[in-house]
Formats: sequence, structure tokens, C-alpha cells
Amino acid sequence: MYKQKEIVLSGIRPTGFLHLGNYFGAMRNYVRMQEEYECYFFVADWHSLTTHPDTKELKQSVLRVVAENIAAGINPQKACLYAQSTVPEIAELYLLLNMLAYKGELEKTVTFKDKVRLQPENVNAGLLTYPVLQAADILIHRSKYVPVGKDQEQHLEMARNFAQRFNYRYGDVFPEPQAFNYGSDLVKVPSLDGSGKMSKSENQMVTLYLADDDDLIRKKVMKAKTDSGPTEPGTEMPEYIKNLFLLMSLVSDESTISLFKQQYNNASIRYGDMKKALADDMVKFISPIRERANNLLDDTASLQKIIKDGGEKARISAQKTIEAVREKLGVNYY
Ligand code: TYM
Repeated sequence: MYKQKEIVLSGIRPTGFLHLGNYFGAMRNYVRMQEEYECYFFVADWHSLTTHPDTKELKQSVLRVVAENIAAGINPQKACLYAQSTVPEIAELYLLLNMLAYKGELEKTVTFKDKVRLQPENVNAGLLTYPVLQAADILIHRSKYVPVGKDQEQHLEMARNFAQRFNYRYGDVFPEPQAFNYGSDLVKVPSLDGSGKMSKSENQMVTLYLADDDDLIRKKVMKAKTDSGPTEPGTEMPEYIKNLFLLMSLVSDESTISLFKQQYNNASIRYGDMKKALADDMVKFISPIRERANNLLDDTASLQKIIKDGGEKARISAQKTIEAVREKLGVNYY
């Protein structure tokens, strides 16, 4: 019997170049999920306005996110790839969910508190209701799985709360969406100095971008924080060395990783050699993605067509949900 595929959705803000965190936290899952699920992946251009009100570079950033997603393995024939602002139904659902979201819980959101600290001069209402818009993104397709990195866990919990409140008050429309990662826990890719996470617009010298050229990748990796190394076997690993091994586990093969682990354990490791091996494997991993993305970016018309077709397809699904929502609310007058 034909079984309807479960629905998957995820989004990325066009606030800068994509990096290894975006890839290993989210996009790696997209690529696998597109084979098994009905997938919607989008560029969250409205969300970016909460922190980046200047739109001079927005269009180019949106095209780049689309190109980098395709370069990383998304096939727009299999997964629906679109820009948030081309699906106005999301805004309608956002408005309705806002009536079910409370000021107190929004103010307590970790990402909101972080943003208030970073941009005290621009604490706009969009920033406060950011998780409501994200819930609308997810619920508009009645999505079940949301592949994201660890930093999005709280937003997913809020989306579940809003879905439950709607269903309880007006009747069942939405499933409860879950954060998803193949394998196990959600991922947090650390920055090269181990002080935080890789990020699109902060910490640029300690973040590896999918657009970085080979020399820059090598330079950043070679500058990663280390020390003079363990002096006796069995020394506990400092956090920044654990991070290097974590980064290595993403791109290097088993034999390379176990060689350096062994050297660490018997206190013979030379971090310069380890970083060189890591830099080589990073270059091997990133350069083909960078080249494919650059080629795709040379053909703006094709990218625009992908965004247009994706938006049209996304709207069909979104309209069905909005119809169900209006019916449950009783705002279907004719
Ligand atoms: P954004 O644009 O910050 O990041 C896109 C995706 O990359 C993941 N990510 C990371 N994962 C591991 N380690 C890191 N260092 C790292 N940095 C980023 C993020 O978890 C995310 O999965 N609010 C979202 C965008 C969004 C969205 C949605 C996501 C809007 N609506 C609906 C899912 C569903 C954001 O800011 O992601």
C-alpha cells in the first residue's frame, strides 16, 4: 500500500556565509532526509531582518544560501527549496500563533536574551516573536521532523507548545514537531579556538566557511588553539584539544583519528602535525562544495527559477494548512 511520506522542514537565515556548523548541524541531515521524506528547506529571509535590517546584500545572500545547499547535495527535484518571503501563508499563521504566545515565555527565550545583549539599540518586536515565526515556518507544512543543530532545541520546544495550544483550543491540525539529527543528539560544532560555536556573522577567524579558499582554511586551522602537549600518558584532554578531535571526527578517516588519539594517550603527539592533517582533510572536504557553489552562483537565472518553483510548490502545501486552520477557527465565511 502507498504510504504517505512524513514531512520534514528546516531553514537557514541568510545572514552570512554558511559554515561547517550549518553543514554538520543541519545540511548533512537534509541531504540524507531528502531520500526518505517529503522535504521542505527554505531560506529564512524574514527572520534575518530581526538582526540585519539593511537589505543591500540580502538578495545575494539568499542566492548564496540556495547555491551552497545545492552544492552540499540538496537536489531541488527531490526537496522543495524556497525563500520564506515567497510563501505569505506563513505570515498569516504567524499572526494567529502570536495570539497563543505569551510575552513572559518569549522574553525568557535564550536566543532573545542573547540578541538583546548583542543589539540593545534594536530590540524590535520581530526579535521577541522570532520563535513564533519559526513555529509558523514549521507548522505551515504540518512538519514532523526538523533537522537542526543544538542551538535550536528551545525553539523546537516552543513550536511544540504553540502547536499543542492551537490543537487544544481549536481542534487538531498540527503534529508536534521534533528536532532531528541522524544518529544521536543534536550537534554543536565548536569554533576553532574552542570558545564558542562556529557562526555566520561572529568569530569569523575561528569559523570555517564553505566559501573559504584553501589557503584561508589552512591558515585558520593552523592557528587553532593548542598548547605544548601532554607530558605524561593518560593526561586529561583540555576542552580546546577535545574540540580539535571533534572537528577531525567530522572530516577525517578513522585511521587518522586513532593515530593522533594514540599519540595523545602516550604523550607523543605534535599538534602541528595533527593540525596539518586536519587542514588537509578540511580542504578536501570544503573545496569541492566551494567550487560547486561558485559555479551555481554564476548562473543567477537558474537559482531564481529554483526559488520560484520551490515557492510555488511550498504554497500548495501551505494553503492546505491555512484552509484547515481557518476552518477550525471558524473564519471561513463562504
Ligand atoms: P541558523 O541560520 O542560525 O543556522 C542554520 C542551521 O545550522 C545550525 N547551526 C549549527 N549546528 C551546529 N553547530 C553550529 N556551530 C551551528 N551553527 C548553526 C542551526 O542549528 C540551524 O539548524 N532559527 C534558525 C532558522 C530557522 C529555522 C526555522 C530552522 C527559521 N525558521 C524553522 C528550522 C525550522 C536559525 O537561526 O538557524
